[in-house]
Amino acid sequence: MPMKTIIEPFRIKSVEPIRQTTRVQREKLLEDAGYNLFLISSDNILIDLLTDSGTNAMSTEQWAAMMRGDESYAGSPSFTRFRDSVQAITGFKHVIPTHQGRAAERILFSVMCKKGDVVPNNTHFDTTRANCEFVGAEALDLPTPEGLEPARQHPFKGNLDTERLEQTIARVGAKRVPLVMITVTNNSGGGQPVSMANIKAVKEICSRNGIPLYLDACRFAENAYLIKLREPGYATKTPREIAQEMFGYTDGCTMSAKKDGLANIGGFLCTNNETLARAEKDLLILTEGFPTYGGLAGRDLEAIAVGLNEALEEDYLRYRITSTAYLGDHIAREGVPIVQPPGGHAVYIDARAFLPHISPVQFPGVALAAELYIEGGIRSVEIGTLMFGKRDEKGAEQAGALDLLRLAIPRRVYTQSHIDYVVEVILEVWRRRKQIRGLEITYQAPFLRHFTARFRRL
Ligand SMILES: Cc1ncc(COP(=O)(O)O)c(C=O)c1O
Repeated sequence: MPMKTIIEPFRIKSVEPIRQTTRVQREKLLEDAGYNLFLISSDNILIDLLTDSGTNAMSTEQWAAMMRGDESYAGSPSFTRFRDSVQAITGFKHVIPTHQGRAAERILFSVMCKKGDVVPNNTHFDTTRANCEFVGAEALDLPTPEGLEPARQHPFKGNLDTERLEQTIARVGAKRVPLVMITVTNNSGGGQPVSMANIKAVKEICSRNGIPLYLDACRFAENAYLIKLREPGYATKTPREIAQEMFGYTDGCTMSAKKDGLANIGGFLCTNNETLARAEKDLLILTEGFPTYGGLAGRDLEAIAVGLNEALEEDYLRYRITSTAYLGDHIAREGVPIVQPPGGHAVYIDARAFLPHISPVQFPGVALAAELYIEGGIRSVEIGTLMFGKRDEKGAEQAGALDLLRLAIPRRVYTQSHIDYVVEVILEVWRRRKQIRGLEITYQAPFLRHFTARFRRL
């Protein structure tokens, strides 16, 4: 029998102090930041669960590889190692490095999409949606019904609704659908995995209609491990074999290596299509850099080459998925409403159910994030009306589909006692939830408003 205690499958060689602040200091810091945690210096955060993106702790092997980084402008062997590592997992012919995921998205949509096109996805992430809309295409979310029910238990709530995909293609015509995307795991939909059966079914629809299928592959390793745990027929396969099969059904991918690349920066765009690759590399040179570095240093390429393989190690994935579930299960047990089951990289609190007295247009997710900061110096992020809602022509706020609060866990960074502390803080806020008030926006930018919006308490 395996032991019940989760142990981090690493030991700590270098430590980074974190700073305690007082409640009074945090109240003042938050008010000065307009109740937007993006606008608070990380010096004033105790446990930072804002994102799992680029916040990974690197391994000794990654640091060692970085010393091998060859910084030649063209033809660096660091690129060769990076490309080989990506190809061994994805099988794609063309691997185009970018400085992060959104740069891959911008290039992909600029080359493949035009005004009037429709791009279906299980759920577009915020940067994916913004880049798609920026070229005039419609970013269409097609989650399955169970994906929109936070409390419902289902092994693959990240799946794309194949029936609605067929209807969409019939409605707009295949010519207006330049590609279909599947985001693994579905970050905006609660970090939920997509089953292999769903990827296969989507591919079949795409093939029938002559539409390429792309993976937004940020968390491909976590998705592969959740397939291993939950999908019949995959228990004896390795995460690498499962990932290879996932990529095998697709025609290309975008990737932020800041997630399952276990790096602090980087990304890539892949395709099997020669013509597309040429156009993508031309655009890459314009804003990112030469195709053998794409905006990254040689040492970054090395870190990603190693990180992609470490992210597929079974010991690491077991610890990763179990420790995320540990946080989710400990708060859910006390009644805190969370997206069930806990996802791979984050626990999502259902802020609407946590604060039912706050209307969605008064930003319950943002209000809850503010309270976790005041209570214990924890930074989290709203994924809801602020991130995805809009104002109508009369300026009235329109609610998003859900109001979630994401507690994203940086990879290999926090220990179980940090997580126990987070549980304690959440439960304290849960006990005084009825006193929490909603918020009103006092400033917002024209797009991606959540990064810089400011609020006042109602
Ligand atoms: C699903 C998904 N797609 C794309 C991105 C964009 O990646 P990056 O932040 O590297 O630009 C993210 C980042 O959080 C993401 O979670």
